[in-house]
Amino acid sequence: MSTFDLFDGLDDRSPERIADGAWVLPGFALPRARELLRAIEQISQAAPFRHQTTPGGYRMSAAMTSCGGLGWVTDRSGYRYSETDPVTGLHWPALPDAFLRLAIEAAEAAGYPAFVPQGCLINRYETGARMSLHQDKDEERLEAPIVSVSLGAPMTFLFGGPNRTDPTARYRLEHGDVVVWGGASRLFFHGVAPLGKRAEHPLTGPVRYNLTFRRVR
Ligand code: SIN
Ligand code: FE2
Repeated sequence: MSTFDLFDGLDDRSPERIADGAWVLPGFALPRARELLRAIEQISQAAPFRHQTTPGGYRMSAAMTSCGGLGWVTDRSGYRYSETDPVTGLHWPALPDAFLRLAIEAAEAAGYPAFVPQGCLINRYETGARMSLHQDKDEERLEAPIVSVSLGAPMTFLFGGPNRTDPTARYRLEHGDVVVWGGASRLFFHGVAPLGKRAEHPLTGPVRYNLTFRRVR
């Protein structure tokens, strides 16, 4: 059985290789989507969504929280991973089992069989929120891929190359889609276009969530 037989019956779009080491896996998270959304709701009761500030002083338009051993935080003093939530002073909520299993299975389907995430950043986009082009490079374990899960309203994902000025391709990401990138494309620039005024999904209304799983140390 090929790894991609796992997708049978889930989605009529096929997995798409978008760069060396990078895949869009349409609908891969669909069977667990409701469970994932319920878990996000619970996590955000313990560790509320907040708009963080970049080192340069900008308020990020996506609201964020985290779960698992390490959460990604930013403020005037820089980007970093933290074992505790700066808002509550407490450890981040545990990584739910459904999150862990999904991340491991998606990584494996994309050719990364040894991935064990150390934490999950949760992004919440409302109308107009976006994420400008950036590299995920605050992690020490660059051999581990990034696993990125889309839930709720559809959004346009931008995937470029190793340099900020490289051309970017645009992919429409729907509820349940997963993107995995690693290996030769681990440090490729990526971002998301502003969430459209009419973008919505029956389960989330005009909101899109993104789960980003990473191995940090
Ligand atoms: C990110 O790169 O941190 C977020 C990507 C996304 O929301 O799809
Ligand atoms: Fe990123």
